[in-house]
Amino acid sequence: MVILSDDNEYKAVSAKKKNPVIKSEEIEYDKTYENTIRPKDFENYIGQSALKETLYITIEAAKKRNVPLDHMLFYGPPGLGKTTLAGVIAEQMGVNIKITSAPALERPRDIIGILMSLKAGEILFIDEIHRLNKVAEEILYSAMEDFMLDMTTGKTQTVKTMRIPLPKFTLIGATTKAGELSGPLRDRFGMIHRLEFYTPEELSQIIKRTAGILDIEITEEGAEEIARRSRGTPRIANRLVKRVGDFAVVKYDGVINEDIAKKSLEKMEIDEFGLDNTDRRLLKLIIEKYDGGPVGIETIAAALSEDVRTIEDISEPYLLQAGLLQRTQRGRKVSPEAYRHLGIKQYGVQQNLFED
Ligand code: ADE
Repeated sequence: MVILSDDNEYKAVSAKKKNPVIKSEEIEYDKTYENTIRPKDFENYIGQSALKETLYITIEAAKKRNVPLDHMLFYGPPGLGKTTLAGVIAEQMGVNIKITSAPALERPRDIIGILMSLKAGEILFIDEIHRLNKVAEEILYSAMEDFMLDMTTGKTQTVKTMRIPLPKFTLIGATTKAGELSGPLRDRFGMIHRLEFYTPEELSQIIKRTAGILDIEITEEGAEEIARRSRGTPRIANRLVKRVGDFAVVKYDGVINEDIAKKSLEKMEIDEFGLDNTDRRLLKLIIEKYDGGPVGIETIAAALSEDVRTIEDISEPYLLQAGLLQRTQRGRKVSPEAYRHLGIKQYGVQQNLFED
């Protein structure tokens, strides 16, 4: 139930009902560069095959029964295609999608305006849903469960409550931190799916597809080289293919081959593991200043002059998955593999006496 502070606020909400003002950058889905390379259907959406199969069945069943899809939650590291997948689902359902993110839903009227603008069957996509404030979250409870907007207006003496019916819509939430979602919100999703990092083979296919759309010539080996250094993440792969493509055009004959991919990625200081300067600084800091760890994330962030959230969301997931970093009760620790990767000798480790 939403408590709106006074009648004026409710008037603002009513006005929104007629003409909801939703920040255009959040809902314009088809306009930016990223969207030209975003796959629009399952055939072009590479990877996540188990999830794709489940979704395909769910969508076809919903279409046959003529009911909206269950609310869905996608979680996993950034850049793995959560928004893209929501777009594919909308396309496959033949419905409109409205895209926003939790930080844009600061005031009650933001979420109310969007909910009231929805038509039956439409999809509402909320990115970074773990960052929703309490009020917005509570509005969503009844909206998701009963398709009702529960509102209370006026001050304590003159409180009026009302329930406004909403069309049956589907909420797709995306988060990099499923653990930070409250239990009641999590429980209102009918399906919860984790997106996995992509294999180099899948990334190579994505890179070739993107290069084709952007009119960039690329060899098989060139695509594989970029794929290996893309940290299992399509968003990074797509960014790199564009930058390496620029490099190939300016310095060479325009074709990305293995050699050009290697040279340009080295210039960008992206190593064979796909690690960039921040990742290497992070690992080196733990090794050199904290003897390999464990050390707390706040200490690491302060020493690197980085934001804790940036480290947790961007650097850490891949370092963990690549086995270079470990999370322990007492903080982050690097693995022996990290020492090897950085070419730093690990002291205090029992050497194998028979090794030459
Ligand atoms: N771009 C981002 N994610 C993608 C995917 N899974 N397949 C193809 N292109 C993508």
